[in-house]
Amino acid sequence: MRSTFFRVILGLLYISGLVFVGYVFTTAGEYYTLPLSERPRSPLHLHFKPGGLWGHGMGIIGSAMILLLFLYSARKREMFGLRWGKTSNWLNFHIFLGLMGPVLITLHTSFKFNGIVSISYYSMLAVMFSGIIGRYIYMQIPRDASGHTMSIQQLDKQDRMLTRMLREGYGLGDEVMRCIGQLSGAGLSVQRTGLAALLTLVVIDLMRPFRIQKLKRTLRRTRQNIPVRTVKAIIEVAKQKSLLMRKRAFMDSMKAVFHYWHVIHKPFAWVMIAIMFIHIIVALLFGYRWIF
Ligand code: HEM
Repeated sequence: MRSTFFRVILGLLYISGLVFVGYVFTTAGEYYTLPLSERPRSPLHLHFKPGGLWGHGMGIIGSAMILLLFLYSARKREMFGLRWGKTSNWLNFHIFLGLMGPVLITLHTSFKFNGIVSISYYSMLAVMFSGIIGRYIYMQIPRDASGHTMSIQQLDKQDRMLTRMLREGYGLGDEVMRCIGQLSGAGLSVQRTGLAALLTLVVIDLMRPFRIQKLKRTLRRTRQNIPVRTVKAIIEVAKQKSLLMRKRAFMDSMKAVFHYWHVIHKPFAWVMIAIMFIHIIVALLFGYRWIF
């Protein structure tokens, strides 16, 4: 119930963010495409230049979002007594802020990137893009509903339950079960570690829709007149089982890759924050106060 509530809130945040960005682009898109020398003559300059009412506002809100996303680190470590809410929800909020903040800051720059602050900007983009990769790796590590890593025992228990459901519940034979094994790609984990393992997972994901089609064909061939509804239900369970098998097989490799990913993601974040603060202090010293 709470998760659904959180998902609705998150969905609304993404929709509001998209509507806002859409509005800015439809209003100021023409301004952003003007050569820098012609911008001061545009009536939009007053509002959409980096120090303008909108430009400056988007910079402040974007920076606030970037600072707020560090709350995830505090929640993860239960700092300042922060224990409420599932860490997985906090991470989803972190991701929203980590995507929306950079978009607002890009609009704040009015697509003009120069000076020392551009190091902060490019570090921010590096963190944002590495975040997208990190999210992919994070998803490969099996976790329970609250975001905690699952143990081998928990995984095996869940796997046995899904196998029983497929074999006894739906009466699937060896051929279909072999197809599910192929769908998982678990067999490919042997001798593949680090980046090779990560790339293997990407390839497995790209092949997934084709393997699902193959599974459907095998099901229809081995079980004549099987109702569409049953095929759908079996595919759903098969997807869960194959993902579980693959996560279990690649778990150690992905934990190691995730560890190294952290080593890259974090320093960029701190460089970005340090230069962002210098930029803010300089702006304040130059007298920029926005509407306050
Ligand atoms: C400018 C934007 C961003 C900044 C400054 C940032 C910063 C950080 C920092 C400092 C951490 C380490 C948290 C910790 O272990 O204490 C982190 C973790 C993480 N971030 Fe970001 N991030 C940004 C954007 C993103 C985006 C866009 C995504 C995904 C699309 C993302 C996904 C993740 C993931 C999956 C983790 C690891 C979570 C964990 O290990 O528990 N981040 N981020």
